[in-house]
Amino acid sequence: QMSDEELEQIIINAKEQLGDELFIPGHHYQKDEVIQFADAKGDSLELAQKSARTTAKHIVFCGVHFMAETADILTNKDQHVYLPDMRAGCSMADMADINQTEVAWERLSQLVGETIIPITYVNSTAAIKSFVGKNGGATITSSNAKDMMKWALTQKERILFLPDQHLGRNTAYDLGIPLEQMAVWDPIMEKLHYDGDLDDLKVILWKGHCSVHENFTVPNIKEVRAKHPNMNIIVHPECTREVVALSDDAGSTRHIIETIESAPSGSEWAIGTEMNLVKRLIKENPDKHIISLNPHMCPCLTMNRIDLPHLAWCLDSLAHGESVNPIVVEDDISHFATEALNRMLNK
Ligand code: 13P
Ligand code: SF4
Repeated sequence: QMSDEELEQIIINAKEQLGDELFIPGHHYQKDEVIQFADAKGDSLELAQKSARTTAKHIVFCGVHFMAETADILTNKDQHVYLPDMRAGCSMADMADINQTEVAWERLSQLVGETIIPITYVNSTAAIKSFVGKNGGATITSSNAKDMMKWALTQKERILFLPDQHLGRNTAYDLGIPLEQMAVWDPIMEKLHYDGDLDDLKVILWKGHCSVHENFTVPNIKEVRAKHPNMNIIVHPECTREVVALSDDAGSTRHIIETIESAPSGSEWAIGTEMNLVKRLIKENPDKHIISLNPHMCPCLTMNRIDLPHLAWCLDSLAHGESVNPIVVEDDISHFATEALNRMLNK
């Protein structure tokens, strides 16, 4: 087994050898040992934009599978995307598969006719993005969710929002849509949960969630408020409506970082998002008192599968002319997925 120093040296050598041919995007949830080698750090939107712009031949994505797929969709045929560990998926993206989506679409269309537009969080498979693109919809990220939902409601009367019910509910609520005008589609039971009049229905939320952000709870907020009366609470909008409502602020990872970095010295913060980012913010802002909203730091296990050994193996193989773990989205899926992504990126 190699030491961290040896692995780091392999990465440094491979990066030097591949030069401009290599681009490494890294999501803010990646471990420090990985993110130190990223050419660009960012939230989901920034990484999609930067992947669309790069001219590098090899893109080694330090993030999760749907992000690497998005990069493949947005780059040219002669550019190749790799994921250092194929097990780095996203449990939320896995909560909506294409067959379930087709069933839901058919059933909902029977109920409300052609008055509905599909919108998907980028945290979804390429096949879902393609379905959405084919049906006139768009992708969104937590950075532009409000604008994109507003746009969607200029296109049709109601939205099917995949796959994160919490981001969907929080965003719709921010736009002034009452909770009574939101329904939940359960893809396992193939059932719509809604008590109101169908004419009033505005947003149908897919019953998916992030298993990391569901760990930030109302009792966590009550404990922080009781123990630290001056503490500000900032969370990611993948947290539940109740948690977002009781927090002081909510936003994408980029928004969280910018808020903490520009906060006054001595200010106090409880953060409700993935552990690696919270730890990094604690380390990089020693003049502020920062804690995790849930005292048991919450890791995204799949993000964490990208580690020093996998990154070193992936880069070393590329430097030796071999490709490992390529992510290739089929042309027919890529075509309509591009439309869904471009409706977002061109805004
Ligand atoms: P953002 O970085 O866009 O806020 O996304 C968070 C996330 O959960 C990515 O999987
Ligand atoms: Fe998926 Fe949640 Fe992990 Fe993001 S933090 S990759 S949404 S499981």
